[in-house]
Amino acid sequence: MSRIALSGFFCRLAIAWLVATGVAVAAPAVPQWSLLPQPVKASPVGSGAVEIADGAVVSVHGADRQEVQAVAERFVQRVADTNGMHLRVATADAAHAAITFDVNPNADVVDDAGYRITVDHGGIVVTARTPRGAFYGSVTLWQLLTPPGWTRGAPVQVADGVIDDHPRFAWRALLLDSGRHFQSVADIKKLIDWMSLNKLNVLLWHITEDQGWRLEIPKYPELTKVGACRKAVGLDSELTGSPDQPYCGFYTQTEAREIVRYAAERFVDVVPEIDLPGHSQAAIAAYPWLGVTGKRPAVWTDWGVSPWLIKPDEKTLQFVDDVLDEVMQLFPSRYISIGGDEADKQQWNASPEVRAQMHKLGLANMDQLQGWFMNQVAAHLVEHGRTPVGWDDVLVAGAKLPASQVVMSWHGDDNERVALAALRQGHDVVMTPQESLYFDHYQSDLPDEWPGPPPAPTLRQAYDTVVIPDGASADEARRVIGVQAGLWAEQMPTFAHDQHAVFPRIAALSELGWSPATARDWNDFLQRMPAELARYRALGIDYADSAFAPAFHVTAADHGAFRIELSNQVSFGTIRYTTDGSLPTSQSDAYAKPLTLSANTTLRAATFAANGFELAAPRTQVLDENTLLGRDGSALATCSRQPATRLDGSRPPQGPRPIYSVDIGNACWLWPKAPLDGITHVAMTVERMTWRFGDEAKDAVVRRKASAAGEFEIHADSCTGPLLASLPLDNAVQARGQVRLDGKVAMPVGAGVRDLCVFATGDPRDGQWALARMVFSK
Ligand code: ACM
Repeated sequence: MSRIALSGFFCRLAIAWLVATGVAVAAPAVPQWSLLPQPVKASPVGSGAVEIADGAVVSVHGADRQEVQAVAERFVQRVADTNGMHLRVATADAAHAAITFDVNPNADVVDDAGYRITVDHGGIVVTARTPRGAFYGSVTLWQLLTPPGWTRGAPVQVADGVIDDHPRFAWRALLLDSGRHFQSVADIKKLIDWMSLNKLNVLLWHITEDQGWRLEIPKYPELTKVGACRKAVGLDSELTGSPDQPYCGFYTQTEAREIVRYAAERFVDVVPEIDLPGHSQAAIAAYPWLGVTGKRPAVWTDWGVSPWLIKPDEKTLQFVDDVLDEVMQLFPSRYISIGGDEADKQQWNASPEVRAQMHKLGLANMDQLQGWFMNQVAAHLVEHGRTPVGWDDVLVAGAKLPASQVVMSWHGDDNERVALAALRQGHDVVMTPQESLYFDHYQSDLPDEWPGPPPAPTLRQAYDTVVIPDGASADEARRVIGVQAGLWAEQMPTFAHDQHAVFPRIAALSELGWSPATARDWNDFLQRMPAELARYRALGIDYADSAFAPAFHVTAADHGAFRIELSNQVSFGTIRYTTDGSLPTSQSDAYAKPLTLSANTTLRAATFAANGFELAAPRTQVLDENTLLGRDGSALATCSRQPATRLDGSRPPQGPRPIYSVDIGNACWLWPKAPLDGITHVAMTVERMTWRFGDEAKDAVVRRKASAAGEFEIHADSCTGPLLASLPLDNAVQARGQVRLDGKVAMPVGAGVRDLCVFATGDPRDGQWALARMVFSK
């Protein structure tokens, strides 16, 4: 460690002079803190700094020495991995350490997870009451050592000052669905590590689903022998290598223990979720007696809400208790989730036995019966000193949940009404509104945005999540114990996709969960994002740049030229562009106002922070005669005007995998104001997707076919307006992957600019057509 040659006295004088004269002075630059989540109190003194360089010594003092030493060693490793600087943990008390971790149970910091960092002439000291607090301090300190614009391996100046910090909420969670698609143990560990760097402390691990039971339970071996495998339908066959190879996987007890151990080192609790009585089709496939009908279903290959429910009787309750006994052995967490969401009651209603039980218990309806069932399960957990957690669905239905249950409220719509009801019934509540915190949902309307369901919680919407329901009293507000984001995995087959979905929206979650409400400031948050994205890069995270990426809005200008507006979702950073096909750099022209460009130009644009950091990778817009005569399907509205689902297409032999925007069950798109003058021909690229959308089948729109295989039709003005083109699908129905259709366009006289409706005839449940692109030609 060395001190920068700046005396505090000199700087205080300089500042006083500046205030007195109003004239800027060339004071030596004091490096800036860029911390995320924003600490409770961050007070840089404005002068002086400590320099940390290769070889700087890290010392550990005080209580819990072994654990704190481990925290310090992981910190040093993280700094080496990301920053390239090699610090050294002292084996004994070091008199002149650059960095000291000091743990003292009586330290004057708020909360066991709290810490203080002081940076001054004595070096850097992280003070905490517990190893947990020291860990969170170490994360902040790592951020101090990776400030905006840091250079790998170079010494870092840390500005003098004091940071006093502790979390706002005790529950700062990410839900990971390993049921629909599972992740490797190594990838789950990475995710846990990165969660902990965002000061999250709960992994809600969803390990049982209709589509797969993923936890080994030795007493019931069929759960994983049968329930962990499903037929490889649709794109699953690309994961298994063949439609004949089932999609199978589960976590052994050893693996589950290893994940718990790894998470505990990072102060993350793994809260397992055994979802009951719905989302249980895989369990019933393993043991049909768990169900109501006595029949054995297949492990589900669709997405959506399955009708297979666990039967609420003594025998199934014994099964659940047995499973939970094993779960409690594996997971030391105080909390265990028993699910309770989306339990479609059709099988219960149809069963004389279940109806008789409902009447015997004096219950008025099946939602109350679910409440009763959840109560029995919850009681078993409570008897063993655990706290049950579950979803808010039974409350939505007007019935009661077990009094002891922590409610995860995902029904955020309608002003957090359900969360407020849960608080008023005395529950502790975790806020996880689907509209803003379901990170599996796509996050932008960019043409290259990754798949996911709608609606799209943008980075801003995630940041603006209401965490205290409107109308909650101070007492009720205190029972909001935290926030949680969801990563449901129907459309998330790969870890790359998980990363794209989670990062950077996790930064918004991190701040919601940790920072005081008074620190909430969207613009300040954006200012802190460049350094955070640089840290993601250094950690090797495949984050999404969607919020910052340039979007092109192209319209016709005079004399065959084009007018182009550039923007990005968050209106942050500088968009820079080139028109010669080269990659934009931080020196390229900055976009300031709409551009007018001639045909046969390749426009490329990327977004940069003020210090030159690339916030979003280059995107390309080709301007030629097809630009205004063609549209990607993802740029078209759906006929229902509902936001589309974005779906992966099948992997092509070459090039990137296509992504489609589809209104599931209604293969119909709108192109307003299409320029049709002189058009004689249309080419379309389409793909038939395997139908696996479960309960969306009931809303499917079936359109009359003109031929056995059906066709794509283009109508003018409305979906029942004049037929302009009909492109038969005979050769397309059996094809795998994308198919090109070509057809003549029968243009009415003086077509001009017309609204178009484009749809596939037939029944989407036989195969859902997706539209990649359509291009008219003259
Ligand atoms: C849920 O999203 N089904 C909890």
